[in-house]
Amino acid sequence: MNLFHHQLKQDAITVETRLAEVLSLTNISGEICRPKKLMMSLRHAALNGGKRLRPFLVMQTGRLFGANQSNLLQIATALECIHCYSLVHDDLPAMDDDDLRRGKPTVHKAFDEATAILAGDGLLTLAFDILSDNSTHNNPQTRITLISKLAKAAGIGGMVGGQMLDLYPESKSPDFSEIARMQAMKTGALIKFACEAGGICGEASITELNALSIYGQAIGQAFQLADDILDVTATESQLGKGTGKDDKQGKQTQLSSLGLKVTGEMAKDLVSQACESVSIFGERSDLLVQAAHFIVSREN
Ligand code: IPE
Ligand code: IPE
Ligand code: MG
Ligand code: MG
Ligand code: MG
Repeated sequence: MNLFHHQLKQDAITVETRLAEVLSLTNISGEICRPKKLMMSLRHAALNGGKRLRPFLVMQTGRLFGANQSNLLQIATALECIHCYSLVHDDLPAMDDDDLRRGKPTVHKAFDEATAILAGDGLLTLAFDILSDNSTHNNPQTRITLISKLAKAAGIGGMVGGQMLDLYPESKSPDFSEIARMQAMKTGALIKFACEAGGICGEASITELNALSIYGQAIGQAFQLADDILDVTATESQLGKGTGKDDKQGKQTQLSSLGLKVTGEMAKDLVSQACESVSIFGERSDLLVQAAHFIVSREN
């Protein structure tokens, strides 16, 4: 196991522990009660699964600047809550209508549709509760910056908008740049936020933040290209989710417009761009470089 895989695993364990805490069955101060079925669905959605790549990116970009580990963990946990919510809603019958996620039945299958909608809503609002907590950063201005950036990455002009364009493209046959923009929104925005957030938490300079943004944007696009490639080339047991879905549902992807070979080459070019951008950090960027390569060579 290389250093990257070791760190990815370590960070996954840490974020899993924190997720289990914030999703405790008993209510926390300021809440009236936590309904049992809702909590079971939230825990089904967020625990025991996923690569936890976004949390790793928050932690690792923050480590570049010696940011406080427990601050980074708060941000990583909040972001993973948003990501898990996006998956729960993405799988709903009204959206991609999928039955399998992370090797388990999707939330609406294991519970029911109303519960899945509410579980998503619960994870979305919990993310902002976590970010606004004093323990996320001792500088309130930094907390507000993180809240505002995550709201934009997850919201109308980010993930939610991208999901809308994925389901309802604005032109009949969207061209390559329209598809790329939709994918930068639905998937890229949260991955870019992951990379910037570590820098914000660690008070990186503008030049450093800019390098992280370029890195995040490039790996975000490469990540969705790899997701689209895996949808065609991988097996269900390998991915823990259904395959061949994009074609079945007539989804417009960069792959559907470029073909497998060119898409693979493009993903590799994006990895090179990403690595080039973080080269300003010298050896300290090693794990981010390995992460970028992992994104396009991953098997699930
Ligand atoms: C899947 O994301 C959904 C996309 C944004 C393409 P991941 O591949 O990161 O899913 P998990 O978290 O590992 O299950
Ligand atoms: C999902 O994209 C992106 C978000 C959840 C925001 P996909 O629909 O391609 O993801 P999978 O393939 O179902 O994981
Ligand atoms: Mg989708
Ligand atoms: Mg989907
Ligand atoms: Mg997909």
